[in-house]
Amino acid sequence: MSLSFEGRVVLVTGAGGGLGREYALAFAERGASVVVNDLGADTKGGGKSSAAADKVVEEIRAKGGKAVANYDSVEDGEKLIQSTLDAFGRIDVVVNNAGILRDRSFARTSDLDWDLIQRVHLRGSFLVTRAAWNHMKNQKFGRIIMTASAAGIYGNFGQANYSAAKLGMLGLANTLAIEGRKYNVHCNTIAPVAGSRLTETVMPPDLVASLKPEYVAPLVLWLCHEQCQENGGLFEVGAGWIGKLRWERSQGRTVRQKNQPMTPEVVRDQWDKICDFTDATKPTSVQESLQSIMTVLSQVESGGEVGVNPTAAAASATSASGINPAEAVGQKLPPTTFNFTHTQCILYALGVGMSTKDPDHLRFLYEGHPDFSCLPTFGVIPSQAAMMDGGLTSIPGLNIDFTQVLHGEQYLELYRPLPTSGKLTSEATIVDVLDKGSGAVILLDVNTYSGDELVSYNQFTVFVVGAGGFGGKRTSEKAKPSLPPPKRAPDAVVIDSTTRDQAALYRLSGDWNPLHIDPSFAAMGGFKAPILHGLCSFGFAARHVLKHFADNDPSRFKAIKVRFVKPVMPGQSLQTEMWKEGNRIHIQCKVKETDAVVLAGAYVDLHGASEASPESLTQGGGLQSELVFAEIGRRIKDLGSELVKKVNAVFGWEITKDGKSAAQWTIDLKNGSGSLHKGPCSGKADVTFTVSDEDFMEVVMGKLNPQKAFFSGKLKVRGNIMLSQKLEVILKDYAKL
Ligand code: NAI
Repeated sequence: MSLSFEGRVVLVTGAGGGLGREYALAFAERGASVVVNDLGADTKGGGKSSAAADKVVEEIRAKGGKAVANYDSVEDGEKLIQSTLDAFGRIDVVVNNAGILRDRSFARTSDLDWDLIQRVHLRGSFLVTRAAWNHMKNQKFGRIIMTASAAGIYGNFGQANYSAAKLGMLGLANTLAIEGRKYNVHCNTIAPVAGSRLTETVMPPDLVASLKPEYVAPLVLWLCHEQCQENGGLFEVGAGWIGKLRWERSQGRTVRQKNQPMTPEVVRDQWDKICDFTDATKPTSVQESLQSIMTVLSQVESGGEVGVNPTAAAASATSASGINPAEAVGQKLPPTTFNFTHTQCILYALGVGMSTKDPDHLRFLYEGHPDFSCLPTFGVIPSQAAMMDGGLTSIPGLNIDFTQVLHGEQYLELYRPLPTSGKLTSEATIVDVLDKGSGAVILLDVNTYSGDELVSYNQFTVFVVGAGGFGGKRTSEKAKPSLPPPKRAPDAVVIDSTTRDQAALYRLSGDWNPLHIDPSFAAMGGFKAPILHGLCSFGFAARHVLKHFADNDPSRFKAIKVRFVKPVMPGQSLQTEMWKEGNRIHIQCKVKETDAVVLAGAYVDLHGASEASPESLTQGGGLQSELVFAEIGRRIKDLGSELVKKVNAVFGWEITKDGKSAAQWTIDLKNGSGSLHKGPCSGKADVTFTVSDEDFMEVVMGKLNPQKAFFSGKLKVRGNIMLSQKLEVILKDYAKL
């Protein structure tokens, strides 16, 4: 459908010639009632004549359009609007276009040269727009154009006065865009290039002729149409080309160290980094701009702890150069313990949006439920204590500015469904430190144990802004990679709303950063309001997968990986898009209201339904125990060294079926990093068990105690019988398979 301006009233200032005339003709041609304003001055602002405006009005009327002339100077802004209202009864669009030039080299610029330019361009646009403003606000519609210039954006010899006024208009437009937004009053700025009497003195004649004003007008019409939602934009336009401009900002560098004075010498020494546009950000608001600065401040105030949230837009950087991977890698943080009861599990489930509205959530919300369980992603909670306690600060070789630490990615793997109460101990190790140029990446692996038993593994990917450049490697085989989703429409999409109090609730699970609750603290961080914890959205996304692809069965959950991209505000809706690829469910999480991706490169790995319920797998005469051994094999692959340390023995297995030997297995947890193979032991097993396929499953599922099985003759043991106690370490995890 063509864009119509029927019923709209448009005021174009300086429309007696050049670009303004073209706009006036184009608006009128599409049905608008147009006020053609022009003072009829010369290019320097001298003289006055009604001829220019009259001529354009005649042209419009000759074509059957509606137009009236106005001869006031834009310095009498009220008069322009009054005559518009007198003629047409309303004002919908103001195109601030009138302009003059008084080019001089800066030294020769007189007060008059300066003042006249400011008065016509900047003050004139202000006065005309202010006179129209309340009319637009009251009718909940308005479109305003400011005319800037490349001279203002980039500077131009001999145009100091003009450059200042033109960029002043952009500043005016930026704020009007914000103040007018909620009234549907939009303000955009153009920097045109066109042949006109203003440019004929600086451009060759054939260029003046070919850069036609009609190659600019369509942009102005679009920006002024009710369909166009653009607001606060800046566009360069000419010769039929249109481009949008925005600000870019270097990652920057924090040149202040805690408790030390800030000096010009440090500024000098960091100058290259300050001006380096690698990984530059593109702030679009004062909030975003201040965010990095306030993050420095607020993180200093909060004691330099690692904020477990994805506020990764923060951008200034540390001056730290004290990273020594050789020293840091392999260092352990002090172990932490985490005591919990069902209360914490339930609180966490509520924190990640579970509700009694959904009957199948009850198993996570009610300790009396027969299948009461802990949500798998609760597995991050015990391990994050290691980070929250500021343990990183004590690591040698990691002399970094802890105000610059951001939580970039998270990986969690469970080796058994989480218990619903107990005491868990976490051990964190720096497994790698990477040099990403603009920043350093610290990979922190946290193993969490219940007694001796490994329950979960977390990998925190911590980004230290500005701490790169120490000459380290860029990638690590230790990093659990994030993965892009398949290039097809998602197989499932779940939309779920967070509540206004989601962060207030989630923080009770242990992330007490005031950024998530205190409006003034959030404002210091550059946010309009407290933001949701990244790990809260992570919990939402994981339970969406669990519900959709695993029937809410926590024993099906194996692992999750996410990359935090943007923050979510409590109350926004999360849209989790899921792609199933075998047992891997790729996910991407967006804020529904803004379509912004908040979790990227993410996936959840599930245990296959068959693996998870071995009872159902006897079809085809296969041995149920095969699956358990397959899983033991996977676990040895992942964790072999841990298990070898704990067990240090070779186990032989003889599985019988209907009284006959059906399979032999060897679990070697003594040599190298452990192995599993099907068949008899090549060397000597420390202990060999003979058991029927059925009884093996009973033991595995915790229904038959191994000692009892031995005494009742169901389990035969040859070799070092004491080692059967260690069976627990291997088998106990599968009790809930
Ligand atoms: P132009 O000189 O043809 O048009 C400007 C019009 O404004 C003239 O008709 C003039 O009489 C009128 N005017 C001057 N002072 C006035 C006042 N106090 N009140 C009311 N009307 C007044 O020039 P052009 O090229 O069409 O320029 C239009 C706008 O675009 C100007 O603001 C100019 O600075 C801007 N611009 C133009 C560029 C180009 O390549 N033509 C480049 C960058 C900016």
